[in-house]
Amino acid sequence: MNRLRGAKGGFLCVLLALQFCAAGLHESFAQTGPAPIPRATQPGDSVAATAERTRFVEKLLGEMTLAEKIGQLSQLSYKDMPRDVTEARIRSGEVGSLLFVTDPTEMNRLQRMAVTESRLHIPLIYGFDVIHGLRTIDPVPLALASSWDPAVVERTMGMAAKEARADGIDWAFSPMVDIARDARWGRIMEGAGEDPYLGSAMAAAEVRGFQGPYVGSPDHILACVKHFAGYGAAVGGRDYEESDISEMTLRNVYLPPFHAAVEAGVATLMAAYEDINDVPASGNRFLLHDVLRDEWGFRGFVVSDWDTVHDLTTHGYTATPLQAAVAALNAGVDMEMTSQEYHNHLGETLKQGLVSGKTIDDAVRPILEMKYRLGLFADPYVSLEKAKETLGAPEFHVASREAAERSAVLLKNSDGVLPLNKSIKKLAVIGPLADSKQDTLGSWSLGSHPEETITVLEGLHRKLGAGTEILSTKGVEIARPNASIFDEQFASPKPVLKTDEERDAEFKRAIEMVKEADAAVLVLGETQDMSGEHASRATLTLPGKQEQLLEAAVATGKPVVLLLLNGRPLDINWAAGHVASILEIWYPGSDGGLAAANLLFGDVDPGGKLPVSWPRSAGQEPLYYNHMLTQDPDGVATRYWDMPSTPLYPFGYGLSYAKFEVGNLRLDNTEMSANGTMNIDVDVQNTSGVAGDEVVQLYVHQRAGSASRPVRELKGFRRVSLQAGEKQTVRLTLTPRDIAFWSPATKRWQAEPGVFDVWVGDDSAATLHNTFSLGGSHAIEVAE
Ligand code: NOJ
Repeated sequence: MNRLRGAKGGFLCVLLALQFCAAGLHESFAQTGPAPIPRATQPGDSVAATAERTRFVEKLLGEMTLAEKIGQLSQLSYKDMPRDVTEARIRSGEVGSLLFVTDPTEMNRLQRMAVTESRLHIPLIYGFDVIHGLRTIDPVPLALASSWDPAVVERTMGMAAKEARADGIDWAFSPMVDIARDARWGRIMEGAGEDPYLGSAMAAAEVRGFQGPYVGSPDHILACVKHFAGYGAAVGGRDYEESDISEMTLRNVYLPPFHAAVEAGVATLMAAYEDINDVPASGNRFLLHDVLRDEWGFRGFVVSDWDTVHDLTTHGYTATPLQAAVAALNAGVDMEMTSQEYHNHLGETLKQGLVSGKTIDDAVRPILEMKYRLGLFADPYVSLEKAKETLGAPEFHVASREAAERSAVLLKNSDGVLPLNKSIKKLAVIGPLADSKQDTLGSWSLGSHPEETITVLEGLHRKLGAGTEILSTKGVEIARPNASIFDEQFASPKPVLKTDEERDAEFKRAIEMVKEADAAVLVLGETQDMSGEHASRATLTLPGKQEQLLEAAVATGKPVVLLLLNGRPLDINWAAGHVASILEIWYPGSDGGLAAANLLFGDVDPGGKLPVSWPRSAGQEPLYYNHMLTQDPDGVATRYWDMPSTPLYPFGYGLSYAKFEVGNLRLDNTEMSANGTMNIDVDVQNTSGVAGDEVVQLYVHQRAGSASRPVRELKGFRRVSLQAGEKQTVRLTLTPRDIAFWSPATKRWQAEPGVFDVWVGDDSAATLHNTFSLGGSHAIEVAE
């Protein structure tokens, strides 16, 4: 029983219900409060549910004053707005949403204020950055994308939603689906990497995970797909800088994951910070209205990013904050996050005729609808008992560990160093990240309890019995040289060694341990604050003296494994040439250490694949496999004279402890018809003596058309688990929609007749090849 709904709360609800029934349908909300609505038990889109919701919302809208409507469009930051201002605004019905409150007791207190003290009793909606978990932290999104397993991603986000909902959070500012083709950009860690097809699959899976089968389903929350759009194309990889993207690239590369999220029914969307093609995203009517609403039919609501309404003026796009409010609202930003220009100016702009009452109503309506669909009008409170028993529950930890295991990518494994043998007598576990809880979690772990994290060192201790001695020390310390914007909320451990002598002694101590051990695992990479928001880099080298440590460890002659914890590809050229085994586990989350131990000792197979092209150097960025052809296709590796222009590891790459052969490519036809399909079969055989996972990938290239087409594009994939010696046929299917693109010549999505190359294999350099053609003499217009 929800303690808060007992006694007084329950009595009040019953009273309100009786009043409502007695007074009849014409009774106003102001006098009675809205009628209690049962929490949705069936899909919110059924005809009856839609009609009831519409009736409820329209009636409420009809009761609202202008100030109350603008209130619904205002989101306040709980941690930044003075408490008395927040509370006064809640009481006067002038707050729609709060972000950055996570204490359920406080959330109930403020919610009670909104529901019982404001005139129309409209509940608040609580938003938070549940990016990869709340209290239990999952692997970062770039890691999850490395699983190439949408089912695992859906399940992981479903777990995150369940935990968040129990805590009182209704709305996750996630998934981030920005395509990132440049590893210098710190936020590459928050998304699914460089590819629109993989990114779309992950976006849809994440939305389904957060929202469940329908908006308002029990134990689920609203998703917010962000940052619309083109944020990942920040010039130079420098966070917040402008992006300049042709309409063809925007529609074919950057927008598809957003569209996939909309098709999956995402409830909300966040407008981006940056200036895109000379109009800041939060004032960009082409994106927020023409594409999102008119073309895609999005019917949820749009929230700005942090202060981005006000910042239309900072950008130099509008001259005054009042103009900023007008531009954002008219462009399609419904709710303003943190800056308060709607609150301050929308009333005046309505008087001046700069915005219309209809535009304001159209912005308020979907916010009320989402609150209704979540069941907040019926039960806005959170049960403290349920929160206590749910947060950090074992089921979340199991799911998080399994996701981390699925997300690991084996980059190199020569000399059979991995998996390590459990009968090893002495193991050295060295590195600044080997035992750092915060750095095992990764950025955006603001709701976590870091002490609950299992580091790599701890995971190995738990895995290995008394028969193995573990020698461990940091060897070197690393830290961001300047402050992170999150330092106050979540910080990595600070270096403790003060002098060069202390640092030298620590380095030597670590190498002595390696010498003494039978094998060494070097846990290197970046601290969690080195990637994420406001965490771009101009170089990609291993920070600090980590590479020297690695070199010295390898020089001992002992078998060395490099275990990487990081949020972006790094420059590991030396390691790739000299270290026997390299395992990428990204930031693996709360149970990352257990996952690492299972992976290192072969209890699970590292079957993930890279969702990004892994550069040799920052100088190659932006780097992506689906580039256009040139007049010199054969020279693709020699564009620079000082290093190859190809990646160190291609997009889609990853090894396994098993060995696979992908062969016998068959197409069921030589020609695809306008409404037909093309089945593509390949045989995958595990030719080794151990079970393992392979990801079969399908790439397509259109040889000629109304515009240049990328050299190859991912158009299908499937992760399969095969026992030792097992063989399976994998079928991937193409339709005209899969081979269509947005043509700048016709300004529409079309599949064009002609010849298409097909490659199938285990990464984007796949060589198994065939062709087919699309028949006919005219392009076929397809739904996007
Ligand atoms: C700014 C970030 O860009 C966005 O991703 C995040 O959701 C909001 N702040 C809220 O924290």
